[in-house]
Amino acid sequence: MVDPYRFFHYYLGIMVRFADIVTSKIKLGVPNKITPVRVGENAYRFADLQVLEQLAESTSVPKYEEEGPTFEVIGYYDELLELAQDIGDRVKRNKKIDPFPILSIIHSITAANLTDELYEYAMSSTVDYEELPGPTMEATFASMKVGEGMGYDEKMLIKLGLTAFLENVGIYKVPEGVLTKKGKLDEKEIKTIKSHPIISYKILSGMGEKFRWLALLALQTHERSDGSGYPKGLKEDEISEMASIIGLTETYIAMIKRTPYRDPYSRPDAVKFIIEDAKLQFPIKVLKAFFNEISLYPVNTYVRLNSQAIGRVQSTNKRRPLRPRIALLYDSEGKRIRSQKVIDLSEDPLFYIVESIDKKDLP
Ligand SMILES: [Fe+2]
Repeated sequence: MVDPYRFFHYYLGIMVRFADIVTSKIKLGVPNKITPVRVGENAYRFADLQVLEQLAESTSVPKYEEEGPTFEVIGYYDELLELAQDIGDRVKRNKKIDPFPILSIIHSITAANLTDELYEYAMSSTVDYEELPGPTMEATFASMKVGEGMGYDEKMLIKLGLTAFLENVGIYKVPEGVLTKKGKLDEKEIKTIKSHPIISYKILSGMGEKFRWLALLALQTHERSDGSGYPKGLKEDEISEMASIIGLTETYIAMIKRTPYRDPYSRPDAVKFIIEDAKLQFPIKVLKAFFNEISLYPVNTYVRLNSQAIGRVQSTNKRRPLRPRIALLYDSEGKRIRSQKVIDLSEDPLFYIVESIDKKDLP
């Protein structure tokens, strides 16, 4: 089964093989010398930075440097991140959680229609996976996006966001050594990990009768439609739809993140894995909304092209999710590009994305 925390202990072999394939593709995609390729009626293009630059100059998109998250988006993100960190401390010290400040921010985000921008900002942030608040933020906004795609009203979106934000608090009670262990987990350690939804349920029940629905949802986020989940092995309609949304987004976010014990999946490979191996674990309706809403390369995240140039995603193309528009930032030798250069991958078959990169790994 797919488990966000220990996923790669079960799929380590597959991951290593994937890594080999991806690496060899990258090597094949980087030309050693300039080779002219005829594209279209008049254009000769070269799989080389010079041509990347020529192409980019022909596309005029002013002020891309200034485009990015607004202060409002950064403000909401920082406030929530601070709350997430505070919750971690409180849980470790057996103190109660107050859901109302979280509720208030999630309400503001929904009312201002900023979920997409918060998701993009969270995906371009550099919080490490081993610090739980990072993936919690990403899974929260991803879940809300999926909820939007399913036509949820404002009240349901707020419920979904609040639950996604809090459902994993039980993980703070799992000993650090178990979560970050590099080798195979023994039976007792697996049992400890699998107990975290029950611990979350108990902690969240402390918020009172008014939030009992949330504690019950948290208990179900690791249940899977085919009965392979935990703690109860519930099936299909026995599992709340909101719990399935959170379970799916959490799985995806966990796969694409680097952890102390393995490399991340590329985003297309993570999606491919979900389609091929995890599709029976989630309702079709949820999977469809997920594939519709979750862009592989969200706006303002960083990517490396086959030319080795690095850029920032400027806009996405729903019909061609692997081929967004990229504002180039670094050339194939890692030198900063100072002028405005944009390449629309949907219009250029020569270039493609080989990987997403973290902001902190920029040259
Ligand atoms: Fe969890």
